[in-house]
Amino acid sequence: MKKILFASSEAVPFIKTGGLADVAGSLPKYFDRKKYDVRIILPKYVCMEEKWKSRLKPVTEFYVDLGWRRQYAGILEAEIDGMHYYFVDNEYYFAGSHPYGEIYQDVEKFAFFSKAALYAIEKIGFWPDVIHCNDWQTGLIPVFLKKVWNANDRYRKIKTVFSIHNIRFQGRWKIEEVRDVTALPADVFTPEGMESYGESNYLKAGIVYADAVTTVSKSYAMEIMTPEGGEGLDGVLRRYGFKLFGILNGLDYEVFHPGKDRFIPVRFDASNAVKKKPQNKAKLQEALGLPKQPDVFLIGMVSRMSDQKGFDLLPGALEELLARENVQFAVLGTGEERYENMFRYYAEKYPDKLSANISYSEQAAHMIYAGADAFLMPSLFEPCGLTQLIALRYGTVPIVRETGGLKDTVEPYNKFTQEGTGFSFANYDAREMLEIIRNAMELYDTQKECWQNLMLRGMRQNFSWNSSIEEYERLYESICQVTG
Ligand code: ADP
Ligand code: GLC
Repeated sequence: MKKILFASSEAVPFIKTGGLADVAGSLPKYFDRKKYDVRIILPKYVCMEEKWKSRLKPVTEFYVDLGWRRQYAGILEAEIDGMHYYFVDNEYYFAGSHPYGEIYQDVEKFAFFSKAALYAIEKIGFWPDVIHCNDWQTGLIPVFLKKVWNANDRYRKIKTVFSIHNIRFQGRWKIEEVRDVTALPADVFTPEGMESYGESNYLKAGIVYADAVTTVSKSYAMEIMTPEGGEGLDGVLRRYGFKLFGILNGLDYEVFHPGKDRFIPVRFDASNAVKKKPQNKAKLQEALGLPKQPDVFLIGMVSRMSDQKGFDLLPGALEELLARENVQFAVLGTGEERYENMFRYYAEKYPDKLSANISYSEQAAHMIYAGADAFLMPSLFEPCGLTQLIALRYGTVPIVRETGGLKDTVEPYNKFTQEGTGFSFANYDAREMLEIIRNAMELYDTQKECWQNLMLRGMRQNFSWNSSIEEYERLYESICQVTG
């Protein structure tokens, strides 16, 4: 039995700000449980919902040396459906109303988390063969292992995988301060180590010191090795290309399951979607205060509102669509104020056509996935993207830009062969996006049967974890074979 410790700064059902939580909360569940004991470790944030906090049982406590500081760490545990989740407790570091805060605080907070996770191994007696780290918040784990625990035989045997979910966020901060917090040796802060453009960089640390690096789609793995997509780390990634793998995210098909979804008004599957989706659409329109027109083309968006998601393409295009076309938009999201205000503006100007729900709501999200006809995701870049996968599963036709995981998961509609699962455009260009939205709308308005078949083809795709799990298992096996 191989033991894997999956370290993440968020995981459903406990705490979520984006797709990382979906992945950390689902990937570990889908390994072959006869061969893998996968446990998850994450921070216990004060902002976690009480219903989750109350399920945690104390396991142990100890002190973590962090430079000249000695910080308390409690370890708590929850077991859900046979899965073990460990939580690192420290109310000074994990206070606040959100998991993440100012970067200068976060670099210390996640140095603490990374080190506490390593201490915890010995204290709880769960000795993993592999620690699977995720994003910059856990980038120091491989470094501490190699530089602090290198004299300990049991720790020295542990291998590490570092997964990049988004290369934009790197955990960059002043070298002197990170040295002060981590007390790592000087060689770590050189260009051969985690130094990058004069700063220390946790994401680079993960890339350099882990035994293998993965990212969440094959296209994104290629893109981050180019100057356009590498956010300054493309050179490092090319150098370490030999240990970089693109493994597509899966979706938790138990959670995102239109046949079982307790958030949606009318449950459905591919056999009755043509009849039942319109019922969800009517309920959605009603809930959002949009006119209850069955034939209007309803486009959904559920997203963090950041430039990553392509929102800079929207202003002109939205105006044109809303002013001229028989279309409705159901928008749900929070994020940068300029985008929130853009949607508020259009909702006020076109109240019968655009509903802007500036909030975070599982219920509202699921209702949009179930009730919309199409799902718009014009991302500037997209490591994988889960929302287009959810849309596909719920028979909501994705309209995406061909980048990263969107390119790998949405096959463009071909009117000649009647193949494909969605619509896509190549360049980051508002005109191209508008044209593609209009093509989708035209198919919907004029060729109902082709539209329905397109929708059903999407529903029949399989983006569960099944195939990606095998790739992770192979990766774990291969790094464990390497000694030293
Ligand atoms: P990212 O991680 O870049 O935000 P993903 O597509 O990987 O993008 O994952 C986003 C996840 O967050 C999905 O599960 C999506 O349903 C969810 N989500 C995003 N915004 C909201 C919101 N406002 N309310 C509810 N869920 C949301
Ligand atoms: C990041 C990416 C998103 C990806 C998610 C999970 O948040 O922005 O594309 O799906 O991580 O890997």
